[in-house]
Amino acid sequence: MGIVGAGPAGLLLGHLLHLNGIDSVIVENRSREYVIDRVRAGVLEQGTVDLLNAMGVGAGLQRAGLRHEGLYVSFRGSRHRIDLAELTGGKAITVYGQNEVVRDLIDARTATQRPLYFEADRVSIGGLDSSSPIIGFRHGGAGHEVHCDFVAGCDGFHGICRPSIPDGALTVYERVYPFGWLGILAEAPPSSDELVYTCHERGFALFSMRSPRVTRLYLQTLPDEPIENWSDDAIWDEMLERMTTRDGWRPTVGRIIQKSVTPMRSFVAAPMRHGCLFLAGDSAHIVPPTGAKGLNLAASDVLVLARAMKVYYEHGRRDRLDQYSDTCLRRVWKAQRFSWWMTSTLHRSPDQNGFDHQRQIADLDYLTSSRAAMTSLAEQYVGLPSEVSFDSAGL
Ligand code: APR
Ligand code: PHB
Repeated sequence: MGIVGAGPAGLLLGHLLHLNGIDSVIVENRSREYVIDRVRAGVLEQGTVDLLNAMGVGAGLQRAGLRHEGLYVSFRGSRHRIDLAELTGGKAITVYGQNEVVRDLIDARTATQRPLYFEADRVSIGGLDSSSPIIGFRHGGAGHEVHCDFVAGCDGFHGICRPSIPDGALTVYERVYPFGWLGILAEAPPSSDELVYTCHERGFALFSMRSPRVTRLYLQTLPDEPIENWSDDAIWDEMLERMTTRDGWRPTVGRIIQKSVTPMRSFVAAPMRHGCLFLAGDSAHIVPPTGAKGLNLAASDVLVLARAMKVYYEHGRRDRLDQYSDTCLRRVWKAQRFSWWMTSTLHRSPDQNGFDHQRQIADLDYLTSSRAAMTSLAEQYVGLPSEVSFDSAGL
């Protein structure tokens, strides 16, 4: 299998195929350092943690991952805890930076000695309607062609694979939000053991962390807000204004070591397959980060794809390949719905009026006082059950 992109989707797929004895070549246009250092989200669902462990790549996660059995929702100046583990029969989420996941997977790939090209230039794919597609690229000054049975488009939202599908073959569903997230990493010990999602009149804010010494915080801003408009002092003032609760809880202030603004969108391209090209992860769908689902969806896509490949190579059966898109999209749409709901319940829209804000507060009041509503959030936040068992994917 030819895999375009060495983000979480491409690397996880490569390792799942390896564990099933299926050859793959991974082609990435950025450098190894760039791919590892890119700052991204960091919440792993229970199923993603179980998958990484079952794949034998969970050592870093077990050492440095922070298991969270609950989270807080904060509004009107009070924090309300939702006990994820108690409501889901013991499931939890783990905070472990995507950078670390990617680093662990690159190490695992390197140990298999299977091909992984970084800094590949002029990457192209062709022959998608045939049974022998080709990935072309240049590397180290030389031209390469990989002749494969299938291509996995794991090259993210801005990659080349989705645009290679002819016009008319894909339907795109999209919602672009009128806000973005300003995210910072700060050298400050986290002042809460668990995440705090805040709905404030001035806009959404999120308290998260990366380690016992590093806090990760987000602030709702305009989607195209230049980061230069925000001095470090202004960022801290706004964070504290939105997050400080009546009981005096607030994030610990520290030196800001990284800051950036990300726009937010919901996006699905369907179907996730065209001929012998299979899209997986961000190349097929984007969720706003509020539900923390991006990496987890990429993981569930490639688990389905690896299982389909295993069935194909072991038994010559194409039925799982044919079901790939529908199987993935069922989960994708549920995650889209959850991410949209979290986003619209917690953020302030520019066209929002007093009625809308009061309705949001009532939504949050209901959420934090009804066991049924908390259970609904909890089971989606820790991750809905996978469509595929680890056994059937060869783990
Ligand atoms: N050729 C080769 N590689 C490419 C090309 C190209 N033309 N275009 C993009 N890529 C690479 C990117 O450099 C990146 O390393 O594909 C990779 C895609 O990785 P991600 O964007 O991380 O997407 P994915 O693996 O689907 O992971 C989804 O990670 O991006 C986050 O928020 C996202 O959490 C979600 C998860
Ligand atoms: C993060 O820690 O980066 C994070 C946590 C929760 C989210 C999004 C991002 O919903």
